[in-house]
Amino acid sequence: MTSSSPAGPRPGGGRPAVRRADALALLTAEFDGGSGVWRSALDGGVCVADPEVARAVMGNRHGVVADTSDFYHHRDGVFGPRAAQVAIGRAARLLIQRHLRDHRADLPRLVAELLAPRSEWPDAGNRLVLRHLRDVLLHPDAPAHLHTTVEAIVSRAVLAGARGRHSAPSRLLFRRRALAALHAEVRARQRAARPSGGPAGPRDLMDVVVGGGGPAADPRELVEVYLSFVFATAGSVGFALGWSVHLLATHPERACAPPSWIVREALRLWPVAWLFARTPSRTQELDGVRVTPRDRLMVCSYLVHRHPGHWERPDEFVPERWAGTVPDAAYLPFGHGPHTCAGATVTVRLLEDLVGLLTRDWRVSAAPDGAGPQVGPALAPPRFTATLSRPDGCPERR
Ligand code: HEM
Repeated sequence: MTSSSPAGPRPGGGRPAVRRADALALLTAEFDGGSGVWRSALDGGVCVADPEVARAVMGNRHGVVADTSDFYHHRDGVFGPRAAQVAIGRAARLLIQRHLRDHRADLPRLVAELLAPRSEWPDAGNRLVLRHLRDVLLHPDAPAHLHTTVEAIVSRAVLAGARGRHSAPSRLLFRRRALAALHAEVRARQRAARPSGGPAGPRDLMDVVVGGGGPAADPRELVEVYLSFVFATAGSVGFALGWSVHLLATHPERACAPPSWIVREALRLWPVAWLFARTPSRTQELDGVRVTPRDRLMVCSYLVHRHPGHWERPDEFVPERWAGTVPDAAYLPFGHGPHTCAGATVTVRLLEDLVGLLTRDWRVSAAPDGAGPQVGPALAPPRFTATLSRPDGCPERR
């Protein structure tokens, strides 16, 4: 709970520690558009920016890497078995899907209440997503102090730059308290013997995790998997919304493009999950670079998405590129292969709904100061103030 990754909070634990804010700039400078795999100065890892090699590594068809994703990593290893991971991912997706379907009508009010007339981003995106998915994270009858704890986790550990707002001792104390509260609730639910939330199914994502893990699962591991969901929802989805809003506000002439194009293009230019960690399973050559199981592979979706051999005008916001045939061989905002994000479809649905609303009912503007992304384990937008005015928006969407 000290940092966020798009697929979950995974600082340390053998994953690539993205310690420097300039990690993205460093990899971009090393990438010369020609070499798709190279030994980087970033933590001594091997960076993969070639789309085919990236898909081969992530798809892992020939067992080139130890099979795992970031999401289920915890500080002592990996939560498993794989069947439980898959069951949890599927149950989480179904729960969120149902919630989004049942609460779609709440979105216009939420947008008006939380974003208009002015909002501070990217935090506004994280808070909006948290509000909309609050009952999915913790069912409404869960103890009030737990709701407070989850909200505090978002404020203190998920928001971009949140860590810098608190001293190290304060972070440590908070972490202990928050983990203890979640741990107690997980244990209580394990003991209550209604692991999947009773006949009506899971009430929230904690039921999903406890049910998927079974009564013998280590509660500390279950807490970490639960936290992965907090980071994925309030964190990653919120940042992805922030990028769409940032691009809309800075390219008003593109506001009437279909929401699905805007969202896809935002995820191409600024993939929140921009660096995936993998460990080679054996000594082998990847695009001419010899790697061994002691190496750390870093698949960089940010560079794959801007590969000049696969994308025209790779650094420009061109939503129209998504009309017609989709050039998605070099597109992996939600990963690729067996560990592809379980929440991809629900994420895209929510983002498209929100972007559709924002461009239908409002005119979104911002005065960008040219600041770059906030780089951490996740790629968050720069800070900006968005102004929503109306009546305006795209008349053809009404
Ligand atoms: C913008 C939002 C999101 C992004 C960019 C994102 C990205 C990713 C990526 C790249 C992976 C693969 C990681 C790897 O292979 O190492 C992943 C895995 C995963 N994501 Fe997401 N994610 C998002 C939202 C969500 C949401 C809302 C959920 C909730 C269901 C979710 C659940 C998962 C799960 C369960 C996995 C693990 C899949 C597996 O290993 O079987 N994600 N995500």
